[in-house]
Amino acid sequence: MRRASVLEWSTVIGIFDSGVGGLTVWRHVSDAAPQADLWYLADQANVPYGPRPLDEVRSIVTEVTDRLVMLGASTVVMACHTASAAALEEMRQRHPHLSFVGLEPAIKPATEWTETGRVGVLATSTTLDGPLYARVVERYAGDVEVITRPAPELVTMVETGEIDPGTIEDAVMPLVDTGIDALVLGCTHFGFLADHIAAITGSDVRIIDPAPAVAAQVLRVADLEGSGTRNFETTGDQLTFVTQLERLLH
Ligand code: DGL
Repeated sequence: MRRASVLEWSTVIGIFDSGVGGLTVWRHVSDAAPQADLWYLADQANVPYGPRPLDEVRSIVTEVTDRLVMLGASTVVMACHTASAAALEEMRQRHPHLSFVGLEPAIKPATEWTETGRVGVLATSTTLDGPLYARVVERYAGDVEVITRPAPELVTMVETGEIDPGTIEDAVMPLVDTGIDALVLGCTHFGFLADHIAAITGSDVRIIDPAPAVAAQVLRVADLEGSGTRNFETTGDQLTFVTQLERLLH
């Protein structure tokens, strides 16, 4: 008789990010799959990932992924472009029995949409410097000019909740001034700033938030028939995290 492993019975979908950014993906999955068992891990002891070298992010992501595996996750969602850039392929090899969903900057929809032939990407430096980003541009950009800007200050803004429209404008306007008509949010934190960013870019620039498409992919690969549990964990300060969850998820 074949013995089923614990993992075959597990329905836990582990979703992680350096902080609260991955909640932009979590909320779509949670709304669409009320019966799914979701475990959200915010690695706030290490936030931000963005300014760290790829190797360092890779070793952090290995630990975080192992933690989710220990909790019984059968699907791991890297709701973080930076983590995916650093370690998605390595984690797939390390845990071949798990399903992984990761994020790459949404260059494809942007290049399909653009009429000006220019698209912008706001992301972290680690994402923009990594080989995953280079591959995505090579594959989808074609003749379209892709103009990038690292914006680590916006990650901090979402974590603290201290929204400063002037700082958002300083990050976004240099891209808008180049004539882009699509702006890719290449960091999951930025989904929480989408309305502020749209107010600055105006309606001529389409804001592309990858969260709904990533959530749709999670719904395709994960086991959605659990007990509807919702767990949240942080490696940082618990009380701060509770306040952030209340602020961002109402
Ligand atoms: N939310 C993350 C991303 O999508 C990373 C933010 C950070 O820790 O720098 O890249």
